[in-house]
Amino acid sequence: MVLVQKPYKSDIRAIRLILNQWTDPEEVGKYIKRIEDEIDGKTKYNMQFFVLKSNSVVCGVGGIADPLPKTLRFSRFKCPGEIKILYMDNQYRGQGLGRTLLEYLENEAQKDGYDELIIRSAERYRDTAYSFYEQMGYESAGQIEGEAEGKKMSVFRKAL
Ligand SMILES: CC(C)(COP(=O)(O)OP(=O)(O)OC[C@H]1O[C@@H](n2cnc3c(N)ncnc32)[C@H](O)[C@@H]1OP(=O)(O)O)[C@@H](O)C(=O)NCCC(=O)NCCS
Repeated sequence: MVLVQKPYKSDIRAIRLILNQWTDPEEVGKYIKRIEDEIDGKTKYNMQFFVLKSNSVVCGVGGIADPLPKTLRFSRFKCPGEIKILYMDNQYRGQGLGRTLLEYLENEAQKDGYDELIIRSAERYRDTAYSFYEQMGYESAGQIEGEAEGKKMSVFRKAL
């Protein structure tokens, strides 16, 4: 059975293992802290995270939040939101689960009053994610400076 739900403290270990597959330790620590903060009721920027579980196994994690000010110029709508992270465990990729998780996030975003979603995605995800976003109806909106100097990120957007 596949379901998407808010993460529990007991999911943190599995979430960390997924993040470790795709990003650097600093970023992993940052997002684990944000997820723990949300569980403890300390969310900032309306940031919220969700896990996708298949037969009770955490297979993916994703989040939404208010957009960073620097991404607003890519928006064509009044109330854009931003996808914060979207990662599947590598062994569960390509089974339609990423689609299920992203569609869930889009639905949540819409319920929260966002009318568009923006995604910033680092160059290193070009082969693993860019076509997925296009397949999910996102259009390429340009490039933006990433957190690391000289590292560009691609920006995608979709009206909800
Ligand atoms: C990107 C990611 C979340 C997609 O999840 P997934 O479960 O592998 O994707 P799905 O199986 O749900 O695919 C949904 C659709 O996108 C297509 N798709 C998925 N990945 C693709 C890829 N790399 N290239 C082309 N198409 C792709 C699928 O064919 C499918 O199309 P369909 O619905 O017409 O059959 C997942 O692969 C992942 O975690 N990638 C590594 C980390 C990453 O890059 N994260 C994004 C960081 S910004």
